[in-house]
Order: sequence, then structure tokens, then C-alpha cells
Amino acid sequence: MSLNYQDEKLFLGKTGDLQEIMSANQGEPCYVYDLNNISIRYKNLKASLSGLKNLKVHYALKANAHPEILKHFKSLGAHVDVVSSGEIKKALENDFVGSDVIFSGVAKSAAEIKMALEVGVKQINVESPQELLRIGEIAQSYNKKVEVAFRMNPEVNPVTHPYITTGMTENKFGMDQSFIPELVRILKNFPDHLDLKGLTMHIGSQLIDLSAMKEAIQKLRSMYREFEVHGFTMNRIDIGGGVGIHYDKMDEEADFSLMNEYGKMVCDELSDFEGEVLVEPGRVLVGRCGVLLCQVEYIKTTSHKVFAILNTGMHHIMRPALYQANHRILPVVKNDQLSKKVYDLVGPICESTDFLGRNRNLQELKQGDYLAICDAGAYGFCMANDYNFHEKPKEIVLK
Ligand code: LLP
Repeated sequence: MSLNYQDEKLFLGKTGDLQEIMSANQGEPCYVYDLNNISIRYKNLKASLSGLKNLKVHYALKANAHPEILKHFKSLGAHVDVVSSGEIKKALENDFVGSDVIFSGVAKSAAEIKMALEVGVKQINVESPQELLRIGEIAQSYNKKVEVAFRMNPEVNPVTHPYITTGMTENKFGMDQSFIPELVRILKNFPDHLDLKGLTMHIGSQLIDLSAMKEAIQKLRSMYREFEVHGFTMNRIDIGGGVGIHYDKMDEEADFSLMNEYGKMVCDELSDFEGEVLVEPGRVLVGRCGVLLCQVEYIKTTSHKVFAILNTGMHHIMRPALYQANHRILPVVKNDQLSKKVYDLVGPICESTDFLGRNRNLQELKQGDYLAICDAGAYGFCMANDYNFHEKPKEIVLK
């Protein structure tokens, strides 16, 4: 259970009384997270993939790296996927060890690769021949052998917002088949320092339609066979993250059906694979665990619109401005007696893109009302900034 009304009051989980939390926080914007929601979703995802012989879940911590959330994932038995030395540090500060870490990302600096070697990450996901060469040279200078996987671009066309696709021809991510000979040449120059362990992919985020992912896994397996023809014995396939959540629905049932559909599809494609199957989920595990609370500062009526001007905005949650994402927005205290009105919900930032929701039909609002921006657990606080020198919101974790 994520958000739910108990009588007229909005709760996160069973016990997170959001009105009480907001009053204690004096109406200042804050993110609230429920660890229990994460546990339920993590267990469901694992169960849906139980047909795989050797599964490793590497939580993509870019989605939400709150220390208590990271520690919670560790206690559940998860590993992590990171994309920078900052994220490696975050993981290690919060109970993970080097061998829990898959290091992804398209622009790893020499210093970041050195750090990865020093802490002994499990695998570096390589995105270009030049990066492979750099890793080989650094590993040689450390006299270490480093386990790598190649991020392949399966050139599929997932259904999602264009800003969050990563597995299409035009994207900067991954490598297509034409890179294989060059990669093989580099590997052969570093037989004692580069150990090709497998292939990896990540085709995009917020996928509700899984057909492109299925096609991508099939293409990845055929590239895998091609490397084997070149004489490499690998034992890992990493299929990335990407499973979406139903932002439009209050009830999480549709999310669980999607997770189960995902599990079935992945097991159909990979249950005969003898090696490790790695997954890197982010949003599907934490998207529903969090909410961003805020307060109405002003109601402003123009000849065209009624604006509810809030004390939070695109600096606290960028998703609506950046991807036209629709997060449901709910009153923290519901009152069915009030008539409904259509609002544009906007923030304090001096930009017209600073909206959280447009043309939303809500109970009549007044100055001081508390609102909840729903399903803000993934890519919420981690993308927040202090533009216009506004403070970042607090984060509160329910016990
Ligand atoms: N693995 C890699 C290599 C990734 O780049 C990502 C996300 C993930 C795993 C996790 O993907 P997920 O399961 O969360 O879809 N800021 C955007 C999302 C960007 C995702 C970037 N990569 C948003 O707010 O929708």
C-alpha cells in the first residue's frame, strides 16, 4: 500500500500521517519515504524472476540514494548499479562493499576507473572502445585483472518519453555490432588485465510496454553468441532496468501485474542461460515509496487560468518540466463537500516551465492547504537543485 486515505486524511503506507508530518515540518516542502513499500516491491520483483537459475538484483541507486534506503536495500540482499565515483562512495558509505557494485555510465574518468579498481567493483560496464582501452591501461598499471561487460545498443525503439530512451541508434549509450571487431582487438592486447565477463544493456526507462525489451534481450543473446565465436567464455547477462510504474493509478495492482509480466518475459528468454542474470531496477522499486509534500502559497486567478502557486516546483521535482511527466497531485486532507475547480499547479521558480500539473481538477484550494505530489520516490530528490537559491526539501523516512 502506498498512498491511501484513512477517513479524510492522506497516509503513506499504514502509518504515515502526512498532515501530521507536514504540520511538524511547518508547511515546508519535504519528501517522505516508506521503507515497507520498498520491501514489498523488492520481494515481488524477486519472486517474479524466481525462474532464473542465478539472479542478482543491482538496485540502480541513481533513482534514490537516501542513506536509509540504501541500507534497507542491503538488508534485503540487493546489490547496486552506480554511474559515478560519487555513487560508488554513497554505496560504500551505506553498507555495500566493492563486490556489490556494477559500475555503469558513458563518461567514466580515469580517476573514477582508478577508484573502481581500488575498491574492487564486481564489474565495469563499458560503453566505448576508448573506454575499454583506458580501463586496460589503468588495470595494467595497477597490475590487476578487471571484470568488464560490454554495454551493447540493441537498436530497439521502446515506447517511452524520447528523453529517457537509451537503446536506439541515435542514443549515445552502448555499442552496436559494428564495434565488436575493435573491442576484440583491444581485449586481446590485455589478456592479463581485462576479463570479459558478459554483455549488458539498458534500453530506456519508464517502460510499460515490454515488447522492445524482449526484442533487445533476444538481440543481446545473439551478440553474446558472436563473442563466444571469437573465443570468449562469458557467464553474465545484464539486462539493465527500465520497468515503469503506473503513475496514473492510485492502486498499485497494475504495477504488480507489470512486474509479473516482466518476470515471465525475462524467464521465458533467459531461464536456459547457465550464467548469472543481472537486473538493474530503479524506479519500479522506489517510485511508489515516496511523496513530495508542499503547501499552497497563493491562489491567483487570471482571465485564462486559476493558478495554485506552491512552495515547491521544478527545482524539487524536475520530472514534470523535463519529461511532461504527470504525477498525481492530491489534497492531504480531503473534503468531498468542496466543489471542484481546475488549476494549474506551479512553483516559485522564475521560469514558465515551472509547473507540477496542468489543468488539474481538484477540490477547491485555499492558501495554506497541503498537497501531495505522488509517486515521487524515484528521480525526485536526487534530481533536485537549489536554482534561484531555494533550499532543497527535507527528506523524512518513516520507520
Ligand atoms: N541501469 C542503467 C544503466 C540506467 O541508466 C538506468 C537509468 C537504470 C539502470 C535504472 O532505470 P529504471 O529502472 O529506473 O528505469 N530521470 C528519468 C529517468 C532516467 C533513467 C536513467 N537511467 C526520469 O525521471 O524518468
